[in-house]
Amino acid sequence: MKAFARLAWIPATFAWKAFRRLSIYLVRPRFAACGKRVLFDPFDSLHHDRISIADDVFIGSGAVFHASLSSITIGSKVMFGPQVMIMGGDHNTGEIGRYMYDVHDKRPDNDQPVVIQDDVWVGARTRILKGVTVGTGSIIAAGSVVTRSIPPYSMVAGVPARVIKSRFSPADLARHLAFLAGHGNQAPGECGDAVSSGGVAPNATDAVCGVDR
Ligand SMILES: CC(C)(COP(=O)(O)OP(=O)(O)OC[C@H]1O[C@@H](n2cnc3c(N)ncnc32)[C@H](O)[C@@H]1OP(=O)(O)O)[C@@H](O)C(=O)NCCC(=O)NCCS
Repeated sequence: MKAFARLAWIPATFAWKAFRRLSIYLVRPRFAACGKRVLFDPFDSLHHDRISIADDVFIGSGAVFHASLSSITIGSKVMFGPQVMIMGGDHNTGEIGRYMYDVHDKRPDNDQPVVIQDDVWVGARTRILKGVTVGTGSIIAAGSVVTRSIPPYSMVAGVPARVIKSRFSPADLARHLAFLAGHGNQAPGECGDAVSSGGVAPNATDAVCGVDR
């Protein structure tokens, strides 16, 4: 009986994965733009119509990407660990004589775009707030709260997130970029420019980020 119960999980798991993959196809057109090989949990809380995503992006499960009245732009080859939150807006809190709850009109600076450039790794449970640009090639440590923009190829951590080190020495960065260019890759910063639509394919990042899809 136990063996049967175990075997029954195999088709159930297969069916669940197929359903999720199909759901990704159905949800993809709801994004403002969605590139090729973009993997995400179709049941996560994402403001699809305000989110543009380039090719080769993995969004770990439990993501909450809310743009408010602004936008979220995600470059190419970006990895999000599980339970990352992007909040593109604040409430309008400066109206004298009114409860914040009752204020529905926004000030221009309440909502500001969030941009994640190419080749970024966002650690688990990171929070990224309005107006932040995460520079190309950067790493955000797990659990960080990012309130200010991050320079390219830096590693940041903490609450609020601060640069803890550079990902490469200047010499290694030059070698890294030369190597990428020499192997027919688009330079980071260019590869996310073209946000095109396309198919969904399995991504090696699944295993890295510990999410079984
Ligand atoms: C960012 C990260 C890659 C750094 O790894 P690393 O290069 O080995 O860096 P170190 O462990 O040497 O840490 C460097 C410093 O940053 C600090 N630090 C590292 N991660 C931190 C974090 N999440 N929050 C706060 N500080 C952190 C360390 O304490 C250390 O500080 P110290 O120099 O004062 O001792 C790693 O800590 C991390 O957060 N990984 C994300 C894991 C994850 O989310 N996985 C999901 C898979 S998609």
